[in-house]
Amino acid sequence: MSAPNKSYDPVEVEALKPEEIERMRDEALAAFAAAGGLDALHEAKIAHTGPASPLALANREIGALPPHAKAEAGKRVGQARGAVNRSLAARQAELEAERDARVLVEEAVDVTLPYDRTPSGARHPLTTLSERIEDVFTAMGYEVAEGPEAETEWLNFDALNIAADHPARGEHDTFFVRGARRPGGEAAGSGVVLRTHTSPVQVRSMLDREPPLYVICPGRVYRTDDLDATHTPVFHQVELLAVDEGLTMADLKGTLDHMVRALFGGEGMQTRLRPNFFPFTEPSAEMDMVCYVCRGESVGNPDRPCRTCSSEGWIELGGCGMVNPKVLTACGVDPGKYSGFAFGFGIERMLMFRHNVEDMRDMVEGDVRFTRPFGMEI
Ligand code: PHE
Repeated sequence: MSAPNKSYDPVEVEALKPEEIERMRDEALAAFAAAGGLDALHEAKIAHTGPASPLALANREIGALPPHAKAEAGKRVGQARGAVNRSLAARQAELEAERDARVLVEEAVDVTLPYDRTPSGARHPLTTLSERIEDVFTAMGYEVAEGPEAETEWLNFDALNIAADHPARGEHDTFFVRGARRPGGEAAGSGVVLRTHTSPVQVRSMLDREPPLYVICPGRVYRTDDLDATHTPVFHQVELLAVDEGLTMADLKGTLDHMVRALFGGEGMQTRLRPNFFPFTEPSAEMDMVCYVCRGESVGNPDRPCRTCSSEGWIELGGCGMVNPKVLTACGVDPGKYSGFAFGFGIERMLMFRHNVEDMRDMVEGDVRFTRPFGMEI
């Protein structure tokens, strides 16, 4: 029991004796030093600086001292608590630094390791080229139109002014879809073929909607060719149709010139038209484009031969012309009011000369070693 207040001496109060305060401080410092981790340090912090810690309890005793003794005891306790807090902060910083260094090592990611061994594949260059062409035309306001690959003979031929006995029908070397077979008899004609071009999609567009009509029809088409370096029974086309009031061949030519500039870039790219015949266009033309490699410089110039165009200066692209009025009529469009132009070409052929692909079979075999060098062009 402490002596009465009058003779109260802080030295006599057990908890406030200098050696006691020192002991409390040293114990706290020792506990912090012994804390091997941040959790242990937290425990030590509560034990030595919390409200129930010896130093906090000693501090409370000060209030009971006579005024003259308060200052000295307060200074002693305050210094001890200051030392304890500084030691705590220093140990805290030390342990946090240790933890950060450890985490950096333990959670390090080796960015040189292969992240995934599954090959990602690549889009087929025919798809990317076809989409590039679509982009050129959608930028001009054209719509992309698609249709079925098994198509009625009427849409694939008749509506396009290719009558049943028309020689062009033979030239297309068509795959016919067999109809139901009568018992013991021949299979009946089904009236359905694998489309030989994407022109029936243009017919469908005209039947569906009123002009003005600006559509581009990409898609897979079929002809009975054997697979060799320059032929394939399944190939891809892009065909285009514009129907509006007052369209002329000048519009067709301007559109073609724009397309080859957009696809092949640079100065001097243009097209030329050579008279030809298609039942669905009148007049009709074969379209060539300036060779995008030599730009015509190889013509008559033995010092600068060009493999891409065989030094002819031009590369054949496909067919085109003004839509035959008979086709417009068959599709419910008034040829007295509207005119139209159309063209079509094969994507495989364009891929061959645009990227120096020498064998068409490479495009259909599905070997990723062929497609991968084209990259993931979007
Ligand atoms: N449809 C023709 C073909 O496949 C190409 C073509 C389209 C020609 C439009 C002229 C106009 O051979």
